Amino acid sequence: MKCPTLVLTLATVVLVLTGALGLRAQSGPNDAPRYENGADLVFPADYRTWTFLGAGIGMTYEEEGGAGNGQMFSNVFVNPSSHVHFMETGAWPDGTTFMLEFRQSDSAASINQAGRFQTGLAFLEAEVKDSRFEDGWAFYQFGPGGNLRDVAPRMTGDAVEPCIKCHTEHTAVERTFVQFYPTLLEVAREKGTLKPGF
Ligand code: HEC
Repeated sequence: MKCPTLVLTLATVVLVLTGALGLRAQSGPNDAPRYENGADLVFPADYRTWTFLGAGIGMTYEEEGGAGNGQMFSNVFVNPSSHVHFMETGAWPDGTTFMLEFRQSDSAASINQAGRFQTGLAFLEAEVKDSRFEDGWAFYQFGPGGNLRDVAPRMTGDAVEPCIKCHTEHTAVERTFVQFYPTLLEVAREKGTLKPGF
């Protein structure tokens, strides 16, 4: 009987093919966002190895003065493959993920005499461009340092409204504050992707 052999051969061919396809998929960018329930963002634990866009210190967004962030630093990271794409086009591809971390700062320590350096993680937020979402973008909060979520639910309703509003009205490129990331700003200017007014 040849049948069992044929079945085995076919099974082997299928296995080899799916294996090859799997490898192909893995050879693409592996810094794409991972979701649970289709929209909740799995914490990208290696974001600190991503591309660093810039840091602010004591930035205050609200016009009414507000307490602001005091002497907190804000560090912005983006997944490397999206950064490469931006440097070539001045635009963000689908799947671009930004991490914004707020860090406390200190001055009087060690040999430091003036100026400030960064210390503990205060809070971590994220933003993803993904056409699967109605709005094309999603916002997340991983929460306070020391108590980060493994998976952040996609923000919705009243909670996300201020994020969307500010990131729409005041951003230089798409929903992002490229005006504060000096190396990107030059590229956006060159590629003509800055919004009017910038
Ligand atoms: C009143 C304005 C304002 C609001 C509201 C706001 N942001 Fe931002 N966001 C900023 C500014 C300004 C920056 C640039 C930070 C820097 O340069 O350090 C920024 C940067 C970011 C970044 C880095 C990528 C980028 O877009 O440039 C993320 C991620 C982010 N914000 C998430 C959020 C989330 C999540 C919310 C809502 C919970 C939110 N933001 C609400 C002003 C705002």
